[in-house]
Amino acid sequence: MIVITGGAGFIGSNFVHHWLAERDEPVVVFDALTYAGNLGNLAPVESDARFSFVRGDITDREAVERLLAQKLPRAIVHFAAESHVDRSIRGPLAFLKTNVEGTFVLLEAARAYRAQCAPPDRESFRFLHVSTDEVYGSLHPADPPFCETTPFAPNSPYAASKAASDLWVRAYIKTYGLPALISHCSNNYGPYQFPEKLIPLMIHHALENRPLPLYGDGAQLRDWLHVEDHCRALVAILERGRVGETYNVGGGNELTNRAVVETVCRLLDQLRPRAQGSHAEGIAEVPDRPGHDRRYAIDTGKIEHELGWKPRETFASGIEKTLTWYLDHPEWVRNVTTGTYREWLDIHYGTGRSERSAPA
Ligand code: NAD
Ligand code: DAU
Repeated sequence: MIVITGGAGFIGSNFVHHWLAERDEPVVVFDALTYAGNLGNLAPVESDARFSFVRGDITDREAVERLLAQKLPRAIVHFAAESHVDRSIRGPLAFLKTNVEGTFVLLEAARAYRAQCAPPDRESFRFLHVSTDEVYGSLHPADPPFCETTPFAPNSPYAASKAASDLWVRAYIKTYGLPALISHCSNNYGPYQFPEKLIPLMIHHALENRPLPLYGDGAQLRDWLHVEDHCRALVAILERGRVGETYNVGGGNELTNRAVVETVCRLLDQLRPRAQGSHAEGIAEVPDRPGHDRRYAIDTGKIEHELGWKPRETFASGIEKTLTWYLDHPEWVRNVTTGTYREWLDIHYGTGRSERSAPA
């Protein structure tokens, strides 16, 4: 069986669905259920005999050790993280705790667990650390895309915490021979994404006739990848990746934020039109994110050549599917957009947004 940390979040839950649709091997999700973790994301598999859930925090060494001793996994796929850049700017400490200390605890527990495995299991054990393209920093317009040897230059507390965790994983590979692999992926979109992130936030706001807040000039570039393609890449890395290697994953869809939001509005105009005018009339430029990275782009040559992976979705096909999913699941959106979600909107998008700062 495999352990999936953070499996109640956006990508982790999509990974669980993808895994169980394709293979018989059981999974156990280990997740603290923070504001971003939601058991509703796993509802379609809750009665599947191959699925189990353990609530726990990756910074809790005892809980992690107990999990490994009881479940005897052949692999850990590590998604658990604080993942939202804006939250990292307002409160960086949680990012240091979960992303760095939590990863350290997992690495230590995995090292100890593996040491007492029988030699064949010790050899075949894998630790897949799911990381981000944001560790590489920001590109200028004419720069080549990020490749696996691009030096780290993280700019946000989130990116710094992910870069730090990546370096801890690297140290455990080099020093202790931990059979780990690292992936660096670009911006994901798809079902079950918490509506604090650009695409689901814009869908949710448009449907509620609220302003669509575009940071700065909206000309920042991101490379968008449908989450299902990311999951396929992760399975390929886990099963066929070379131990100790890193793999960059991206969609080849470099788009400005404004173009993404306009596409969402155009599709909503067809699928859920406003009484009058276009949803795009709601677009409102708001103060920029501090330290906002201008451009990310990914060179996917390595994973394509070594592992034969390529994205299947174009942005046009993926965004239409995604919009349809959100429109078909209003109860999911309702469940995750109460309470603390509304507090976040008030703090972050309310009046005084640019002056406010949160304690660490
Ligand atoms: P998410 O915020 O949707 O989910 C994170 C999950 O981790 C939640 O279920 C949460 O409850 C859990 N979690 C948080 N702290 C925990 C802790 N201390 N112990 C146990 N569980 C904890 O995040 P996501 O967007 O699904 O991202 C998953 C991973 O993929 C992250 O490591 C992120 O850095 C990486 N990543 C995300 C993207 C993206 O576009 N979303 C792109 C590349 C890489
Ligand atoms: O690149 C991979 C990263 O992508 C992941 O590692 C992160 O976990 C994930 O959150 C994402 O980070 P971004 O900061 O790129 O995603 P976000 O959806 O927050 O923002 C995407 C872009 O849209 C970014 O340039 C900021 C902008 N934006 C975002 C929000 C929430 C807006 O203009 N308005 C908004 O309200």
